[in-house]
Amino acid sequence: MNANLKAQAAAAALEEVESGMRLGIGSGSTANEMIRLLAKKVASGFDVIGVPCSTRSEALCLELGVPLTTLDKMPELDLTIDGADEYDPALNLIKGGGAALLREKTVAVASARMIVIADDSKRVATLGQFPLPIEVNQFGLASTRIAIQKHFASRRVSGDLILRGGENDPVITDNGNYILDAHLGTIPDPAELAKGLNDIPGVVEHGLFIGIAKRAYIAGENGVAVVEPKA
Ligand code: A5P
Repeated sequence: MNANLKAQAAAAALEEVESGMRLGIGSGSTANEMIRLLAKKVASGFDVIGVPCSTRSEALCLELGVPLTTLDKMPELDLTIDGADEYDPALNLIKGGGAALLREKTVAVASARMIVIADDSKRVATLGQFPLPIEVNQFGLASTRIAIQKHFASRRVSGDLILRGGENDPVITDNGNYILDAHLGTIPDPAELAKGLNDIPGVVEHGLFIGIAKRAYIAGENGVAVVEPKA
C-alpha cells in the first residue's frame, strides 16, 4: 500500500472527528498517516486529545504536537482510528503486525466506536492468511505454546507458532511480553477461535478483533469506500 492511499483512508476517517473528541490513536504506517493529518488539524486550532496505542505512535504525536493523555486519566474515549492487517466482510480483524495489539484492543474497546483505515489489499474473504499475533508472557513460553496448540486443535485449526524475532532475539512488546505468530492459513470461525484463547495462562491478548470495528475506510484505485460489517 502506498503512503498516498494510506493518507486517503486516514483523511476520510478524520472527517468523523469533531472538535472536543477524545481519540484512540492507532499504531502502524496507516495510523502514522492519520497522526500526520491530525497534527495539521491541531495546528490550525482543532481541539482533540488522544491516547496512543504504542510508544511509536506516542513519539510521533509528541513530535508533531498532537495533545496526549493516558487511558488511566481518560478511560472512556469517543473514537479510535486504527489500521489492520486483515479484515473480513463482518469487519472482524487481525491486528498486531506491529506488535501493538494489546494496547490497540484495550484502547478500541474503551472507545464508543472504532473505525479502521486500510487499503483494499487488506480485505480477505476469510481471516488467517496473515499470521495471527498472540501476545504472551515471557514466563512459561513453552507451556503456553503447547496450550495454544491444544486450543487450536480443539477448534480444528493448526499451524506453526513462531516466536517473533526468533528464539535468540525475540521481539519484546511495549508491555514487556513476547509475540507468537500463528501461521494458520485460514480461520473459518474467528469468533469461535477467539473464545477461550485468553483463558490460557500466559496468553496476554490475541490479535483477533471480533465485532469491535464498526466501520472501515478502505482506499483503492477508485477512491475511498466506506465498509460496514455484514452479518
Ligand atoms: C499494529 O500492531 C497493527 O495492528 C497495525 O495496526 C497493523 O499492522 C496495520 O499496520 P499498517 O497500517 O502498517 O499496515
